[in-house]
Amino acid sequence: MNLRTNFVLGALLLTSGVWSQTGLVPKQFLSLPLGQIGPSGWLSDQLAVQTNGLAGHEHEFYHYVSQTDWVGGNSFYSTLEEAGSYWFNAMVPNGVLANSSVLNQKTSAFLDYVLSHQDSTGWLGPEVNTTKPRYLWGRYPFMFGAIQMVEAHPELTDQVVNALHKFVALANTMLHNGQGQEDWTRVRWPDFIMVLQWLYDFHPNGKEDLLLDTMKQLKFTGAPWEDVFSTELFPKGATDNMRNPTGFVLTWHGVNMAEGLKALPATYRFTHNQSGGLSRIIGILPLMSLFALDLDRASEGWDLLFQYHGRPSGIFAADEYLAGLEAVRGTELCLVVETIGSYLYQVIGDPKYLDRVERIAYNALPATLTGDFWSRQYLQQQNQIAAQNMNPHSRNPFPNDGPYSNVFGLEPNYPCCTVNHPQGWPKFITNSFLTTPDQKSLVQAYLGPFSTRTTLANNNQVSVSVDTLYPFSDTLTTTITAAQAFTYHVRIPSWVSGGTISINGGAAQALSPNNGLQAVSAKAGTTKFVLNLPAKITTGTFQSRPHGSIAVQRGPLHYAFDIPRNSTVLARNAQESRAVDLQFEATAAWQYAIDPSTLKFINSPPQSGALPSPIFDSNLPPLSIEVTACPINWNIAGSTFAASPPQNPACVGAQKTIKLTPYGSTKLRIGEFPVFKST
Ligand SMILES: *[C@@H]1O[C@H](CO)[C@@H](O)[C@H](O)[C@H]1NC(C)=O
Ligand SMILES: *[C@@H]1O[C@H](CO)[C@@H](O)[C@H](O)[C@H]1NC(C)=O
Ligand SMILES: *[C@@H]1O[C@H](CO)[C@@H](O)[C@H](O)[C@H]1NC(C)=O
Ligand SMILES: *[C@@H]1O[C@H](CO)[C@@H](O)[C@H](O)[C@H]1NC(C)=O
Repeated sequence: MNLRTNFVLGALLLTSGVWSQTGLVPKQFLSLPLGQIGPSGWLSDQLAVQTNGLAGHEHEFYHYVSQTDWVGGNSFYSTLEEAGSYWFNAMVPNGVLANSSVLNQKTSAFLDYVLSHQDSTGWLGPEVNTTKPRYLWGRYPFMFGAIQMVEAHPELTDQVVNALHKFVALANTMLHNGQGQEDWTRVRWPDFIMVLQWLYDFHPNGKEDLLLDTMKQLKFTGAPWEDVFSTELFPKGATDNMRNPTGFVLTWHGVNMAEGLKALPATYRFTHNQSGGLSRIIGILPLMSLFALDLDRASEGWDLLFQYHGRPSGIFAADEYLAGLEAVRGTELCLVVETIGSYLYQVIGDPKYLDRVERIAYNALPATLTGDFWSRQYLQQQNQIAAQNMNPHSRNPFPNDGPYSNVFGLEPNYPCCTVNHPQGWPKFITNSFLTTPDQKSLVQAYLGPFSTRTTLANNNQVSVSVDTLYPFSDTLTTTITAAQAFTYHVRIPSWVSGGTISINGGAAQALSPNNGLQAVSAKAGTTKFVLNLPAKITTGTFQSRPHGSIAVQRGPLHYAFDIPRNSTVLARNAQESRAVDLQFEATAAWQYAIDPSTLKFINSPPQSGALPSPIFDSNLPPLSIEVTACPINWNIAGSTFAASPPQNPACVGAQKTIKLTPYGSTKLRIGEFPVFKST
């Protein structure tokens, strides 16, 4: 195509107005309602661990969420401003997936309370009949929870949908009047758009125009995420001494960034600000900055975020604000779970989003909680040599977080992650299967032990169960039963090398994925297939780290040296003795360089066929990697954290073999190593 043709095409699009179309662009993949997908095997056990831990018990004793009258409480955090709302969003799916009658009763009572206290203007929450300023964002997680309640209990549809429409009408007026937004609401608008789009897609009730207008108001009065994610403006290092050129300082805040990732895919559905080949071609025209494309920008923004702030554990670093690549900078637990709830694949269809979310769930999430899920950190580090109070502040590598951020406990640094972290596993599980837009095909988006039972188009009743220890095994056995034949798609991660599939006991054949998905023809009746998904150990581009250090990866798992540790109880909750604050200190050397040419993968499958419970703790996973290491001089900084890995260090002792284990099972660790050449 020549320039002239481009120009003509461009002019044509401009005059016809590509986004004068009305309505929402359909998604490429659709979610299944809560309750149709469940965990099985080790993942079911992991959810039970969470349910028996802090997540499933905090409503009994944790003051922000334990008041009988949650939403009527006086505490700021006990209101729909934050704590109750976060808790509800997480515990609705936790309760349903874990089949916990206690949690299901609690979430049900919470919903009843909030809906029955909606005021005549439509406002939801405790600010009813008070003079408190009304800010919108605290309701967003509540509304996510309410939508999930409807999915699991369709009989609640009218009640919830009517309440949401009433709230939307009020919010629309507030937005037009310049009300309801403070700095956090101005950046967190993508979450409200998700709610509005759910209403639009499933229960518009004749309010399409109002819903669309509210989406546009949110976008045009909120932070400009399309600018935040542009190559020119995106911060290419720790943001400590940078000025945010968009004027919205909070867009560089980690949790907001995790939520902001959804902004462009969400707005694309109504801006129709296209992407793809045609617009890319048009993009070379000077006129065409106009056409600079929400979806391409979303994809570039995602890549920039991980290029400049990414961690080998899958996530990015932000100890409040984006924190660059140094291995001692922190990643907040809240941003880990928000990123797992990612929605980019549903709209954009690029499997890179799924690959990364799977890494985050299997590495960054479990690493920052104790194995029993009773104690959590605020910030995790790639190289973490202690989890202790870092007083005085001068010894703390986090410019904007307190010295307690590394401790494993009930509410280190801030309470938000105590109430928000339980959404991580449930959201991962409920997003593990999708359907194609015609609802004829199922797509298995994440690999792991899941099962689903749903009805596809033409009343095709299907059930699927995936039997596997993955990510602690390369083998997945999937059994599909279907009333009618259909095409099943399973994601093949980008890291798979030499993968095979064997269908109904047939010979193993090489995989042939298309855009990351392997199609399997499922017959009426039962189809069984076995995937074998080996991967090479890598220390390459994705894992090359600052100061010439390296990180080790194989398949979905990142491997780290688990520093032997002892444990001191710093505090214990008066009402709940299992809620403890723990200090971990290293009890052995961690100062090693490794020789990447000696990395050797070891698989010791459990004799019983089942993994230990819990699985994410020291030395429990059956996989490890051995490597030749030598002791080196490696300083500590401020007596509480490791200095940057030394470059070209000299060996100061005899070489030895050390074991690297899955990052998620380590609580103190070295994940980024200096290198040396062994003899
Ligand atoms: C859920 O729990 C109830 C008892 O509370 C039990 O009757 C039911 O069989 C359970 N359902 C599943 C799917 O395990
Ligand atoms: C708000 O106050 C009015 C007047 O006292 C009362 O009638 C109404 O029930 C209150 N609303 C809520 C939701 O508490
Ligand atoms: C289209 O998207 C780009 C990138 O997100 C943005 O800069 C531009 O303003 C958008 N145009 C419209 C008309 O929304
Ligand atoms: C833990 O180990 C550190 C370092 O060896 C030591 O100073 C500390 O006393 C130990 N604490 C406990 C509780 O054993």
